[in-house]
Amino acid sequence: MSVKIQTLSGYFHEYQKSVIEPETFWDRIAETFHWKKRWNKTVEWNFEEPSIKWFLDGKLNITENMLDRYLFTAGDRTAIIWEPNEPDEPSRHISYRELYHMVCQFSHVLKDLGVGKGDRVIIYMPMVPEAAIAMMACARIGAVHSVVFAGFSSQALADRINDCSAKLVLTSDGNFRGAKKIGVKEVVDEALKQCVSVEKVVVYRRTGQDIKMVKDRDLWWHDAIKGKPTEIEAEEMDSEDMLYILYTSGSTGKPKGVVHTIGGYMVYTHFSFINVFQYNKGDIYWCSADIGWVTGHSYIVYGPLLAGATTVMFEGIPTYPHAGRFWEVIDKYKVNQFYTAPTAIRALEAFGQDPLLPFDLRSLKVLGTVGEPINEEAWHWYHDHVGKNKCPIVDTWWQTETGGILISPIASITPTKPSYATMPLPGIQPIIVDNEGNVLRGNSVEGNLCMKYPWPGMFRTTYGDHKRMHDTYFSQFPGLYFTGDGVKRDEDGYYRILGRVDDVINVSGHRMGTAEVENAINEHPRVVESAVVGYPHEIKGQGIYAFVIADMTDRTVANLTNEIKITVNQIIGPIAKPDKVQIVPGLPKTRSGKIMRRILRKIASGDYDNFGDTSTLLDPGVVEKIIETAKEG
Ligand code: WT7
Repeated sequence: MSVKIQTLSGYFHEYQKSVIEPETFWDRIAETFHWKKRWNKTVEWNFEEPSIKWFLDGKLNITENMLDRYLFTAGDRTAIIWEPNEPDEPSRHISYRELYHMVCQFSHVLKDLGVGKGDRVIIYMPMVPEAAIAMMACARIGAVHSVVFAGFSSQALADRINDCSAKLVLTSDGNFRGAKKIGVKEVVDEALKQCVSVEKVVVYRRTGQDIKMVKDRDLWWHDAIKGKPTEIEAEEMDSEDMLYILYTSGSTGKPKGVVHTIGGYMVYTHFSFINVFQYNKGDIYWCSADIGWVTGHSYIVYGPLLAGATTVMFEGIPTYPHAGRFWEVIDKYKVNQFYTAPTAIRALEAFGQDPLLPFDLRSLKVLGTVGEPINEEAWHWYHDHVGKNKCPIVDTWWQTETGGILISPIASITPTKPSYATMPLPGIQPIIVDNEGNVLRGNSVEGNLCMKYPWPGMFRTTYGDHKRMHDTYFSQFPGLYFTGDGVKRDEDGYYRILGRVDDVINVSGHRMGTAEVENAINEHPRVVESAVVGYPHEIKGQGIYAFVIADMTDRTVANLTNEIKITVNQIIGPIAKPDKVQIVPGLPKTRSGKIMRRILRKIASGDYDNFGDTSTLLDPGVVEKIIETAKEG
């Protein structure tokens, strides 16, 4: 048994141990896994380079700890329950034994297609069990997966494929999303025009729509697995070999490939999963995220399956075919732990309580949220109406880079407080610094959230560009990992996440870099310059507001703003589409040419007064002009 916290004093006790003797603490947890060879050293690190290594020289295969481990003891237990987009389509219940065989079978497919240890495989698939199977098959043979959310455009997909020189792409013919059927294979075909590294494409048939198959390159999933053996030896991997790359947006440039390695990620996702959600054998757990995001990686696939859990995978959206779909699924499978995003809660809250009424939610024991700060109103609605006042809410703070949850209540153990992520998990050492890097000690302080000690699940590098990792996260406050978030530690020592302090906006729990959206907007031939900021949005948390200088010849404001939205949609995908585009005569720039985003953020949020010191502006008059058109709407 791993370390499972049972009481609040138990939490404090483990926390103390984890800080005083981190190596002993993590050794004890790591020892509960199956290793082909034990590690020689628990951790070796410095945050200057940075260089982070856990369980050095340990040899293992993560899938042996997810599949083989349960084969004989719990082979018949359901590993994955799959709920399709259409409620009438049969669901699928896949046992640990079946999952094991499916993963082994697909591992053979990968090998026969020439994929070997260290090769990169892109997974651009809908929410079907085969996507999870693909991830595990990669891990089984030592290949590195990179899941790309299937809502990203062909350009975004091509950028990711090229950044990691992937050899293989796994995809589907199409994708069901609510009432829509979306072409997926065609997006891959378009992307691959720009990608030379890809040799083969395996296509999972999902919608049955007509698609083009490229001779000698494309093959069907069901043909590929035919006759393949259902057993395969698990490749012996080093603890610090790459498990996956996941691309995420930052404040500058193109998305970066966050790299997670095997041993530490395994230990941390399992540990955080069983503790935060207080998962018990036999519980049905459901995380509604998409596997295209880190939440899906750590808390639909790796964490739960490492724990031998039954994990629900949902293909659809919360409002299809009706606004009670989430509650219907919880009732249908008697879900015990439910984990979703504040944006979904707010969207469903808008429908009132009626959609909840037909469903029995008594199975629920724990509710979780992730991805963005949860406002108090949404917290109470979730708590009162979904959890019927009896389920603790775990407001889990973490990031793609952290690999797993770092700050969160432990369900039923940590007293909760609306909109507070509360306290760090054992092994996590947060530290708050002001903008000059001075450490803010004690309670009732507010500043930049950093970490001063590594934890096993943290990322190791940014793919192909280690310096970028240093510059982005370890240069601002030397010796510390800087998260990019602002935080408050209140009088009780509880942490409340205040949101990003950099040029990253959080749209519906998804991270978007303002520079990335600006670059996409600037691709429009009429656009001269643009500046993008976030603004408070009732459902999405933050919306995207673009201020654009453009050549208006032969264009109306309406058609140009529309074209700009379409351009962003094509270059990145629907998630990056600006909610508002305002054509402006100029941008508020300082004499040194820097855009004063502070002013734009205020205007975008509808606050037209008190801009503070604007004396460094080159042309203060431009602010008035922007406000004038902003007011016109
Ligand atoms: C950013 C990370 C971690 C999986 C989903 C997002 C924000 C995340 C919370 C929370 C307030 C949160 C932060 C963070 N965030 N969880 N519980 N309360 N803010 O992963 O795309 O890597 O984004 O999401 O701003 O830095 P991501």
